[in-house]
Amino acid sequence: MYIRLRFKYVFSVTLRYIPDKVMTNLPDYFKTRRSIRTYTSKPIDDELLNEILNAGCRASTTGNMQVYSIIVTKDENIKKALSPCHFNQKMVTGAPVVLTFCADFNRFNKWCKTGNADAGYANFLSFFTASIDALLVAQTVCVAAESEGLGICYLGTTTYMAHKIIEVLNLPAGVVPVTTVTLGWPSEEPIDPGRLPLEAVIHNDIYHDYSDAEIKEYYSEKEAREDSRQFVKENKKESLAQVFTDIRYTRKDNVQFSKIFLQVLNDQGFMNQ
Ligand SMILES: Cc1cc2nc3c(=O)[nH]c(=O)nc-3n(C[C@H](O)[C@H](O)[C@H](O)COP(=O)(O)O)c2cc1C
Repeated sequence: MYIRLRFKYVFSVTLRYIPDKVMTNLPDYFKTRRSIRTYTSKPIDDELLNEILNAGCRASTTGNMQVYSIIVTKDENIKKALSPCHFNQKMVTGAPVVLTFCADFNRFNKWCKTGNADAGYANFLSFFTASIDALLVAQTVCVAAESEGLGICYLGTTTYMAHKIIEVLNLPAGVVPVTTVTLGWPSEEPIDPGRLPLEAVIHNDIYHDYSDAEIKEYYSEKEAREDSRQFVKENKKESLAQVFTDIRYTRKDNVQFSKIFLQVLNDQGFMNQ
């Protein structure tokens, strides 16, 4: 928590208030976890994987409808076929297990049909509802897996290449992949990539928009990191923000992949009304 003292018209100072340390039951796991991109060749025991998936499926879902599916890929040939869908990121073929989390109204629609019920889910809101379910389950699977010492890495390429993943995984109408997680025993200890300070992301009671000075303060630590400075230098950019806008997440890509993804939602039957 920061307390800002303003001396009229002259200057302001920010004092950090450090409260007495509260005792919590939060495991150290939350402080030490990292995304893992390199795995050992050790397989994941089926029983352990089932326990982890079972734990993940205890996540909250909308109306307990559970409108998601998880495709568990262990077959080397299917992993190879998935690899280009993820721009050949090494984790896809390097991990013993690849989990593709899908927004899935197919199963629920079929159930509605058996109950002579009029399923009104061929729309964008229902896609978003199913995506929320899929993502909550994905994150719960990740926490369960990491608690057991496994390493995970999300693949954001899933939404870029959903049309190709649909082909490889044989996904029917009503099913859209929304994220992928690679899973395996860690073979690296990545450095802590850091986080924005808590006060940058927390708004008390209502949203408090950011002043330029606050933005500068909140991002200063990230910008000062050696790896960030190296990114800026290597890419011959003026700022770290430019590395994001010009290299990593460009307007051109975002517009192109948005168009493709909207077409996927249409093709999979989520934009019919
Ligand atoms: C939705 C999502 C998509 C991601 N996509 C990728 C990816 O395609 N490749 C990758 O190497 N890491 C990916 N990550 C991992 C992030 O880069 C990572 O979580 C972030 O840098 C913070 O690092 P940490 O998880 O080790 O704390 C993704 C994470 C999320 C949540």
